[in-house]
Amino acid sequence: MKKEKFKQKYGPWALIAGGSQGIGEAFARVLAMKGINLVLVARRKPLLEELSVEIEKTYGVEVRIISADLAESSTFNILKEHTIDIEIGTLVYNAAIVPIGLFLDFNMEEHLKAININCRGPAILIDHFGKLMKKREKGGIILISSMTGFQGTPLTAHYAATKAYNIVLAEGLWYELRAHNIDVLACAAGATNTPNYMATEPDDPGFLVPKPMDPMKVAQEAIAKLGKRPSFVPGITNKLVTFLIRRLISRKQAIKLIGSSTDNMYGKKI
Ligand SMILES: NC(=O)c1ccc[n+]([C@@H]2O[C@H](COP(=O)([O-])OP(=O)(O)OC[C@H]3O[C@@H](n4cnc5c(N)ncnc54)[C@H](OP(=O)(O)O)[C@@H]3O)[C@@H](O)[C@H]2O)c1
Repeated sequence: MKKEKFKQKYGPWALIAGGSQGIGEAFARVLAMKGINLVLVARRKPLLEELSVEIEKTYGVEVRIISADLAESSTFNILKEHTIDIEIGTLVYNAAIVPIGLFLDFNMEEHLKAININCRGPAILIDHFGKLMKKREKGGIILISSMTGFQGTPLTAHYAATKAYNIVLAEGLWYELRAHNIDVLACAAGATNTPNYMATEPDDPGFLVPKPMDPMKVAQEAIAKLGKRPSFVPGITNKLVTFLIRRLISRKQAIKLIGSSTDNMYGKKI
């Protein structure tokens, strides 16, 4: 889509929840290249400040930063107040918590935090910004999910379940909101070279988890797919693995295969 048309449909502002590093930072850059102003939300203020200055200078767009924790209920009122005077034409929900380990080894507080950040957050922000987009009869919503959301995934069982929530929610909303000229997309990413992923120091997973993708490639492909489909998997190798897992083998076999990969990656660490 040409830059002016893109700005008209998805601008003038985008809010990226979890927009200071990794895939969220990549979305910030790709949207800024398209002339969209940004509201970047994350906890660490110094990272947000550094990125906002750099993006304003490089791409000539306006950037607002909000340092807040998406696990806290109060954050959502702060986001609403700080965006009352601008039109959010695109919402990207990227932040997530990824507890790695056996479900029963975590306490309930940790499980509820994962639900708050990974599921409650997108629901609240879609409710707010989606209603405003509906009044304007235009907009875009992207939920960053994961290939783990396609089936039960041992050692990240709860995380995978929250990511399934994002895929299914986006797909349903893709249908409901297209009548209002609002495009919704779930981006089911595979391993991606981000600070968070690299910090987990995964051991060699075997063929099922290809080499981590460049976050910019993930964001570029997602923006290209927005308005064209309800959900997608970035990267050719990830697409092939998804085809194998979802179409060629049974669900039970898929869970076992994914289980042995995650065991290879994290089994020795827990
Ligand atoms: N990287 C992968 O291999 C991979 C694979 C599949 C799916 N994904 C998905 O991609 C998304 C991004 O992952 P990533 O690897 O890019 O993560 P990341 O490098 O840690 O970046 C996450 C972003 O969200 C912010 N954030 C995290 N928790 C937050 C909270 N409680 N409140 C506010 N902001 C918060 C982080 O900043 P602060 O820490 O400063 O808050 C950062 O800006 C996630 O939804 C993840 O499930 C990633």
